[in-house]
Amino acid sequence: MPKNTQMTETDLPVYYKPWMDIARNVPELISSHSLRLRIHDMPLLETHLLQTHRELRLAHLALCIMTSGYVWQEGDKETVKVLPRSLSVPFCEVSQRLGLPPILINADTVLANWKKRDPDGNLDLLLTLPGGESVRGFFLVTLLVEFSAVPGLKSIIDVINGVHDNDVAVVIKALDVVSQALDSMKQALKLMHEYVDPSIFYGIMRIYLSGWKDNPLMPEGLVYEGVQEKPMEFSGNSAAQSSLLHSFDELLGVQHEGSSGAFLTRMRDYMPPSHKQFIEHISSRLSLRSFVLQQADEHLTQSFEQCVARLVEFRNLHINIVTRYITIPASRAKQLCAKNQDLTEELDEIRKAPTALEEKGTGGSGIMTFLKTVRDETKGTSISQCTTGNQVLPDPSMTEIQKAASELTIE
Ligand code: HEM
Repeated sequence: MPKNTQMTETDLPVYYKPWMDIARNVPELISSHSLRLRIHDMPLLETHLLQTHRELRLAHLALCIMTSGYVWQEGDKETVKVLPRSLSVPFCEVSQRLGLPPILINADTVLANWKKRDPDGNLDLLLTLPGGESVRGFFLVTLLVEFSAVPGLKSIIDVINGVHDNDVAVVIKALDVVSQALDSMKQALKLMHEYVDPSIFYGIMRIYLSGWKDNPLMPEGLVYEGVQEKPMEFSGNSAAQSSLLHSFDELLGVQHEGSSGAFLTRMRDYMPPSHKQFIEHISSRLSLRSFVLQQADEHLTQSFEQCVARLVEFRNLHINIVTRYITIPASRAKQLCAKNQDLTEELDEIRKAPTALEEKGTGGSGIMTFLKTVRDETKGTSISQCTTGNQVLPDPSMTEIQKAASELTIE
């Protein structure tokens, strides 16, 4: 698991013990079907004792984990329409202070959800959801992708300054760091295969990441009791809410149009405001692509092209991951639902998965069309289509998906 040295806040002031006692036991309370009862008995706490940014972020994490568990305690059965006041009022207050939506977001589960497990710097989660080691793997591998991106994000500033000063050498150097970071992100993303079991992801974890916007399980959204009577709608948790790819897209001038562009723009409202401002700052300060075209410098063009190629490679790997974790199990679930026989535990998880989410991403989008459009728009940013080093992984065909699905054998 990833190593690092900086810490997040790991506990809240003692006044908030009633929250933390529940939030630390969400998987157990779900499995005994008692989380909703515990939350109904939870006192309504004031939020003004939360003072620092880190305390507020940890409070948001605790409240969103409890909310997700409360809403999805019974899976796709007995869904709720109202979030009780003891949860909804403080959750909305904390969210408002942070400029975040009152739902589980990537900035909670990944960015504010880790601590050092031992002096060597190995990391662990602060709070978790049902799915055991796979949840741990899912959030920590995503965190590792974030860590891997850091040198690249820092170099974006150097690119902006280099373009501003007309300094080609500075821009080349900075773009090379971005390109290396994109490669490290890809290597980190590959670890998903090692740490996350597709049947657990598809059958157990996915529902807890779901939102209440465009979700057939909650067509009316969710009433936040004591906040407003009208139901609210929010998208589910997705790494589309991470600032990383948004930042690199803005750097390289990747344009996302139509409904996929609209979805990605909407995801910026699920980021910490400073992250959104950083992305907007890049787009307002920079036209790197025009600079590269104007300079017509071979080395500069090559560095730019290399970054585009690496971004395409990352998105191709991501498409393969989504195929393994969503498309294949979804296809298998359809086959299994038709059969009425005893299954292995793994296949049973897939069969029991909520059918309403089958073809949808956690944010409610039609997955593959969306991901391939976004990938193709990235490719379209290339100055010459025949870039060096752009060895993309082929898209899996439907036949390959069906073949892989049927290889999950029934014993
Ligand atoms: C098992 C692992 C993963 C699965 C199953 C998965 C699934 C998905 C799905 C279904 C979408 C479509 C949008 C939505 O419905 O929210 C999406 C989008 C996205 N995901 Fe993932 N994801 C995984 C891991 C990651 C990781 C670790 C990252 C790294 C930051 C990431 C970055 C993105 C990005 C940036 C998008 C927006 C599309 C794009 O910009 O290419 N995902 N993901």
